[in-house]
This record gives sequence, structure tokens and C-alpha cells, in this order.
Amino acid sequence: MDILKQLNIDHGNVAQMLDILDKQLNNVHEMKSTDFDLMRDIMYYMTRYPDRTHHPLEDLLIHKLIEHDSSARKLGENILSEHEGLTEKGQIFLDMLVQVTDGAMVLREQIEVAGRDYVAFLRAHMEKEDKHLFPLAEKTLSHRDWTEIAQAIERRHDPVFGPMVDDQFRALYDFIQQQTV
Ligand SMILES: [Fe+2]
Repeated sequence: MDILKQLNIDHGNVAQMLDILDKQLNNVHEMKSTDFDLMRDIMYYMTRYPDRTHHPLEDLLIHKLIEHDSSARKLGENILSEHEGLTEKGQIFLDMLVQVTDGAMVLREQIEVAGRDYVAFLRAHMEKEDKHLFPLAEKTLSHRDWTEIAQAIERRHDPVFGPMVDDQFRALYDFIQQQTV
């Protein structure tokens, strides 16, 4: 599949995950019952697919872009460093949720702060890519560049939205299906 198209589809899927996290974080804030298993599964997904497949693909695209157009360096380097920040923030939030679902006591406020920070950071990040990075890549990169990017990375299927749902994400998949009915 066309790489840019896949990246856009990924963004739509991630946005859906962030909306679910937002609702659950509202429950955390309002002291309502919260589905921490669901939040943990979302963060497992985020650290497994977007962090390991989507972001590395964008990183390759950025390096190609900078090769062609040095004025893209500032934007590109900013996005590369945000990818590192996202991985770190995501892992911290995931670790917290694993603790909760394992029965440890974690302050609701602590969960809310880490969760809101992650959601806001990732939304702003994707908006930057949608508005600036992707249009620039579409304008600048050649067919050959896209082929080289595709060849340089091992394309993995999305374990939730891809052709096969991974067992680990069955509950998350079912939740999303119910939501969209
Ligand atoms: Fe992205």
C-alpha cells in the first residue's frame, strides 16, 4: 500500500485510541469506574505498533526529505526528537497502567497527569505531521524515494487494525468494534 496513505490511516486509528483514552481519563478525574485494562491495552498497542513501525517509517521519510531539501531540517529534527519523547512518555504511562492492573496502588491524579500529557503531546505531534510533514513529503519525494523507503523497512501489520488481530489485542479490538456499531 502507498506509504503516505498508510501513515494517514495510522493517524486516524491513533486518533481513535486517543479519544478512548480521553474518555477514560475523564472517568479517572471524576472518580468514576475506569477500564484500566482497556487503557493498558491501548498503551501496549501504542508502544508496539506506532512506536515500532509507524514512527520508524516517518523517520526514514524525514531523512529522505532533508537530503532533498535542507530547509526541512528544522521541522524534521523536531519531529524526530518528538518521536523519542513519545516513546518515553508512552512507556512511563504504560508502566503506570500495568502497575494498576497488577493491583498496585497508584494515585488517580498521577495517572491523569501522565495520560493527559501523553494524549495532548501526541495530538499536537500528529497535527504537525498532517499539516506540515506529509504535504512536504508528498511534494518533494519521488517515486524512487518512496520505493527506497518501502524497501528499507520491514513492514509489519497493525496488530489491531490490520488483516489479522493479535490475540493480545482481542479485547481492545472487540471494544472498538462495539463502539463503531
Ligand atoms: Fe505520525
